[in-house]
Amino acid sequence: MTKHPIGVFISGRGSNLKSIINVCKDLSFPAKISVVFSDNPDAKGMELAYENNIDAISLDINDFKNKNDFEEEILKLIKPYNLELVCLAGYMRILTKRFIDKFPGRILNIHPSLLPKYKGLNTHRRAIENNESVAGCTVHYVNENLDDGEIVLQKEVRIDNNDTEHTLADKVLKEEHIIYPEAIKLALKK
Ligand code: GRF
Repeated sequence: MTKHPIGVFISGRGSNLKSIINVCKDLSFPAKISVVFSDNPDAKGMELAYENNIDAISLDINDFKNKNDFEEEILKLIKPYNLELVCLAGYMRILTKRFIDKFPGRILNIHPSLLPKYKGLNTHRRAIENNESVAGCTVHYVNENLDDGEIVLQKEVRIDNNDTEHTLADKVLKEEHIIYPEAIKLALKK
């Protein structure tokens, strides 16, 4: 099976990165992570990249004049990897249209809500406050708007009466780790 080169962008913990690293170890999974990029050199997820001998790059936006220059440098550094897919996994920056246009229809993001509901932060708290009975997660293609773009996969999770935002986050995260690899497979088939 051909392994298509993908990049994973992170800013923090990296549990989704971990799940993608794990599935990529399977020879029948159609992708390999060629590079991990972080906008935060101290992101915990970077350790996973090092431990698994995956090339890891981090840049601090504060070292650049503006976001354009920052992204230009990212593009320059990832170019040699010829990425077929860029997977945002807890990457906390909105990409500019200029960046997105370099990877048309080839950037995915995972978001902890059933989009289009609850874009942005604190999704679980807001879902509970609104007495929702279901929450969930979504993998979608990225456009220049926050948590927007065509949906690839979603998974629902039931909200129980005793759920807090933390227990709900745990339940949803488990599903994230399942649907992101599935969504990568689907996107690579396109
Ligand atoms: C996940 O909940 C993801 O949906 C959101 O940010 C969180 C990242 O978690 N975009 P992790 O770094 O993958 O553990």
